[in-house]
Amino acid sequence: MLLLLVSEAISLSLLWLVPQRAVGKMGYWCAVLAVVGVGAYVNASPKSAKICFRKDFAFGVATAAYQIEGAWNISGKGESIWDRYTHEHPDWVFDHKNADVATDSYHKYKEDVKLIGDLGVSYYRFSISWSRILPTGLSNQINEDGLRYYKDLITELHQKDVQALITMYHWDLPQSLQDLGGWTNPIMAEYFVDYARVLFRHFGDHVRAWVTFNEPLSFCQEGYGGQDAPGRRASGVEDYMCAHTVLRAHGMVYRMYKEEFDRNNQGYIGIALDMPWMEPYTTSSVDKVAAETARQFLFGWFANPIFSKRGGYPPIMRRRIDVISKRQGFFRSRLPTFTKEEVDMIRGSYDFLGLNHYTTNLVKPGDGRITAKPSFYNDMGVKLIVSPEWPKSNSSWLRIVPWGLRKTLNWIRHTYDNPSVVITENGVSFEKGLKDRKRINYIDSYLRSVHAAIYKDNCDVIAYTYWTLMDNFEWMRGFSERFGLYETNYSTPDLKRIPRLSASYFERVARTGCLDDHSSSPRNYDGMVIL
Ligand code: NOJ
Repeated sequence: MLLLLVSEAISLSLLWLVPQRAVGKMGYWCAVLAVVGVGAYVNASPKSAKICFRKDFAFGVATAAYQIEGAWNISGKGESIWDRYTHEHPDWVFDHKNADVATDSYHKYKEDVKLIGDLGVSYYRFSISWSRILPTGLSNQINEDGLRYYKDLITELHQKDVQALITMYHWDLPQSLQDLGGWTNPIMAEYFVDYARVLFRHFGDHVRAWVTFNEPLSFCQEGYGGQDAPGRRASGVEDYMCAHTVLRAHGMVYRMYKEEFDRNNQGYIGIALDMPWMEPYTTSSVDKVAAETARQFLFGWFANPIFSKRGGYPPIMRRRIDVISKRQGFFRSRLPTFTKEEVDMIRGSYDFLGLNHYTTNLVKPGDGRITAKPSFYNDMGVKLIVSPEWPKSNSSWLRIVPWGLRKTLNWIRHTYDNPSVVITENGVSFEKGLKDRKRINYIDSYLRSVHAAIYKDNCDVIAYTYWTLMDNFEWMRGFSERFGLYETNYSTPDLKRIPRLSASYFERVARTGCLDDHSSSPRNYDGMVIL
């Protein structure tokens, strides 16, 4: 039975792989995926208790420029909004720190690539700092040292047989562009296209997989509607403006890449969207409606315009925000409107869907009151809670709920017609320490959920990325939250990285494509019993 399911899944994945195999030469996913051992097939035999992924399923690890690079003003790099924000408001960051040095990966990238190679993963997802390449944000002034840094990094990765999956924007907007209004200014879409063109020109021959934006929900909602950089705190207004520009920018970059750089269809572009699973609080229909409303506001806001057949914002968002805006006395809806041309340009602008998933919430309807002050959360109109039974991590927002990932993947499958999904982030923070069996349990249980989604439910998931390679700067939480497979020792001058138990666990999984056999030790992965 398992064999049968495996072969069905392979034929699905061929849709994705065949053009790569046919064109040979640096076929991106082909190269990425070939690294995973043939053992995956053999171990998938029904006799074995092992749980294995098919051999073309890829494993990787992820980081982001601001969180690891440091060298914030070295070799021609311009200031970003996170530099400005953490320098001006150290007290707003939990431990009053900033990422001026972070894990110093700008200088230690060779060591880091060695760590990545040691993990046996086939790809590394990292982001490019816009202001390291274009110090003013604009394309008339290119920083050669910045280009060199990323070229060297990519070369180093290739020498270790690791492919690059590049995120073009992981929250660190050049400050000079924020001075023009940042993502609330529609012109930013054009500037992003210019920046992307520079990246494709310089790295496009060696990099075949790109993510335009990381978690626009986070940087639009938290950055323009809340407390993250640039800290605009204009919820219900600027977050919608930001999203509108970002969605246009994403579509424009996709079209530009396909027209100017990807004539042979060898490249892949997606966007990384975050979604905690939204589970109805009870089985009542009001809770079910509330949960679906939350999914549409938190995920559909960005996914519907790109991945749905009709395109545009989710109808429930349109309706609620139009009505609430009117009741608040606005002459027009706070949710902007795409032109027909924009809807068509954005719809279908993807080769894969990047999913960042960590946790689950329970959802019930809000109190129905409309606040005078605009607010994204008031527009959504639901209450998000967690079950006290769900195990905690070291991050207040992250409860451990492995089954939520399977539900998320299934919801994506049926809502957007089973797009190819790359899990661009999944991970967990725990206290300092090398014996992180809890992290192993987290990864193992979430991977079992992914496995079930693929082989039992037919979700087209093609890769899994652990967040993150090593402990790093966790935004407003500073260095207080540790998600790494490697522990960073911040008190040694060389910021020593030390492998945790989870690093060798993940290496085994990445090299074999299989999860350990737990049949003899009864562990409840849904309930996350800690080792
Ligand atoms: C989402 C973000 O993309 C990443 O930057 C962050 O560190 C992790 N989640 C963990 O919070």
